[in-house]
Amino acid sequence: PRLTVLISGRGSNMEALLSACNSGALSAEIGCVISNRADAGGLKTARDHDIETAVVPHTEFPTRDDFDRALAARVLQSDPELVVLAGFMRILGVSFLDHFDGRLMNIHPSLLPKYPGLNTHQRAIDNGDRHGGATVHYTTGELDGGPPIIQAREPIGPDDNADALAARVLRLEHSIYPLAVQWHVTGRLDYNGGEPLLDGE
Ligand code: GRF
Repeated sequence: PRLTVLISGRGSNMEALLSACNSGALSAEIGCVISNRADAGGLKTARDHDIETAVVPHTEFPTRDDFDRALAARVLQSDPELVVLAGFMRILGVSFLDHFDGRLMNIHPSLLPKYPGLNTHQRAIDNGDRHGGATVHYTTGELDGGPPIIQAREPIGPDDNADALAARVLRLEHSIYPLAVQWHVTGRLDYNGGEPLLDGE
């Protein structure tokens, strides 16, 4: 099955997915990597691996909805079985989401439902939490919402700081994201975009 990966930055989760495809741990291939920013470091990584890339710059569209439509059109053109958000830093609206119900995943660096949005690690530390972590989830309408698939947690030490915690959590992200995608492509997850699975299917 073909994956289309959406990134905005360095793309280390995309790279982890790519390694898993190459090692056979993930029975899929990355067909296309798309970024909303031309300067995303992950685009070079993808090109170096001869993966098709595209840029759909959000700054060139007058409204969020126009961007969502253009992005959806480009993603549809890449013909993915699953769309994987990996550090993609734009909020997507219905004009995008409606095309990918049940086949859109995101990774978020907190133990959702705690800390949707930004600065997750600092917020966990400030609140005196004993653990930070990351969540892979299917993406529905709300910001960082939708059915969770897998979470990894990481202890927060007494003298921890957000950067150190982020680096440790990122390593966990690199192992849970390929696993969640593998479970999706092998039909082991029972979420079907709101449609019930047929008995015995
Ligand atoms: C990750 O921490 C991810 O959870 C968050 O943004 C970061 C992206 O890192 N949404 P990378 O681009 O995959 O290296």
